[in-house]
Amino acid sequence: MAVYIIFFGPPGSGKGTQASRVAADLAIPQISTGDLLRSHVSQGTALGKVAKPIMESGALVPDDLVTAMLRERLAQKDASGGALFDGYPRTVPQAAALDGILAERGGKVGAVLFIDVPDAPIVDRLVKRAALEGRADDTPETIRERLRVYREKTAPLADRYQAAGVLRTIDGFRSIDAVAADVRAAVEAARKGAR
Ligand code: AP5
Repeated sequence: MAVYIIFFGPPGSGKGTQASRVAADLAIPQISTGDLLRSHVSQGTALGKVAKPIMESGALVPDDLVTAMLRERLAQKDASGGALFDGYPRTVPQAAALDGILAERGGKVGAVLFIDVPDAPIVDRLVKRAALEGRADDTPETIRERLRVYREKTAPLADRYQAAGVLRTIDGFRSIDAVAADVRAAVEAARKGAR
C-alpha cells in the first residue's frame, strides 16, 4: 500500500535534509512545495511571478495555488507508491485538501514527523545557509517573519495530527545522523502500519 509521510516543523528544522535521505532509501519521491515554487520562480512562470514577492517576504503563497501545484506533482508516475511531503501542508485548509487528495487515491497520512528545533539554532543554520547558497528568504528579517508565520498558521496543525494519532515528535536539535536514526525508525513504523 502507498505510504504518505509529512515532514513537519519550523523553517530550517531539517525537513528537506531528512526527507531527501528517506527518499533515497525508499525510492519514494520527496515533494517539497518550497523547491517546486522556487523552480517556478526561476523559470518565470505565471505561478512563479505571483510567488516570488510572497516568498521573499516570508509569507505563505495562497492555499489554492500551492494545492493545485501539489496535486499535479502527486499525479506523476513516480508517486504511485507514496510520497514524502516536505513543507506541505502549512495551513488548516491545506491539511484538509491533502486528506481529500489522498482519499481520492485510496490513501491517508501515515505519519507526521515533527522535527522540533528551538528558534536560536534555526536562525544560525539559515544565516549560515544564506552565506553558502544565497537563498533570497534567508535574511535575518525574513527568517523572523517565516518563524512568526509558522507559529501562527502551521504549528496549530500539530494538534490535528496528534488527535489523528499520527504525530511523532523528533528532537531535531542534534546531529543530522542522530535525527535521521529516529526518522528512519518512525518511517519504518508507518510503513508497517500501511501494510
Ligand atoms: P520552504 O522551502 O518549504 O522553506 P522552509 O519551510 O522555511 O524550510 P527550509 O527549506 O528553510 O528548511 P527545512 O526544514 O527544509 O530545513 P533544511 O533541511 O533545508 O518554503 C519557502 C517559502 O515557500 C515559504 O516561506 C512560502 O513562502 C513558500 N511555501 C512553501 N511551501 C508552501 C506551502 N505549503 N504553502 C504556502 N507557501 C509555501 O535545513 C536548513 C539548513 O540547516 C541547511 O543548511 C541544512 O544543511 C542545515 N541542517 C539541517 N539539519 C541540521 C542539523 N541536524 N544540524 C545542523 N544543521 C542542519
